Amino acid sequence: MKIRKAIIPIAGKGTRFLPATKEIAKEIIPIINVPMIHYVVKEAVDAGIEQIIFVTSSGKFSVEDYFDRNQELEAFLERNNKIKELELIRKIGSMVSVTSVRQKEQLGLGHAVLMAKSMIGDEPFAVLLGDDIVINKNPAIKQLMDVSLSNNGATVIGVMEVPKSDTAKYGIVKGDIVDEKTLRMTGMVEKPKPEDAPTNLATPGRYILTPEIFEILEKIPRGAGNEYQLTDAINVLCQQKDVFAYKFTGERYDTGNVHGYLDATVDFALKDPELRDVFLATLKSRLQKHGIQL
Ligand code: UTP
Repeated sequence: MKIRKAIIPIAGKGTRFLPATKEIAKEIIPIINVPMIHYVVKEAVDAGIEQIIFVTSSGKFSVEDYFDRNQELEAFLERNNKIKELELIRKIGSMVSVTSVRQKEQLGLGHAVLMAKSMIGDEPFAVLLGDDIVINKNPAIKQLMDVSLSNNGATVIGVMEVPKSDTAKYGIVKGDIVDEKTLRMTGMVEKPKPEDAPTNLATPGRYILTPEIFEILEKIPRGAGNEYQLTDAINVLCQQKDVFAYKFTGERYDTGNVHGYLDATVDFALKDPELRDVFLATLKSRLQKHGIQL
């Protein structure tokens, strides 16, 4: 068994990133000079995913275009002997096979995933949220795939530890400990107050799901925010089948909000050998200019 397909829902409105998202797809906003969606797709490709299915809405065409060839730009770069740049954009255009399906109304993440049903068939698949970047040599989604495949293709939800005071920002899982990194889930709670949270294990947007989830998504009523929630469907599935939560290894950035976006920008600049020194010098001089001492 192999997990070949990944759904990346990008149909959300991106209200936390307004005003840019009034006209720009959130996922195409770059961390320095690389769009955030590039990191998410690369994670999937590095994990061996062969087909990406974007769930899109109006105004998201730039994401599909980004992963397409741009013949005109390629010809221009070739004519001007800009070989390094030419190779870079050709590589992006041939990174992976991309298809898309429209979510005509933004009725929630569960609804978005359901839109891709006809493209999945009868095999487990990955779901990655387009504004959650996870950096690790062994891609986070690959870690979840490995757990799924060693459990007969079971559903596996990626989790990370968060401070107990932050549980109200996330979906929080509960379950029985299998080993240091794995839980057999008994359910999920959406954004519990710290005192009500069953664990401090949050679900930041990496899933291996099985097609059974579609039947559940077709039946569940609207949940929190009057939207069809993936969390609700996973809760139902937990009562029927083995569902695992796995603490993946990796640095995660919620680039869908300005704070997470800043963290990623600073970290990526510091980790880039060509940018690090320039960035540090810029930071130092800006701090001096503004009379700030750290
Ligand atoms: P978010 O909760 O981050 O919503 O959705 P959002 O619209 O992207 O951003 P904010 O909260 O308004 O700033 C989580 C993921 O689910 C997708 C989003 O695109 C995002 O990747 N999503 C959400 C859909 O594709 N469709 C929906 O109806 C809702």
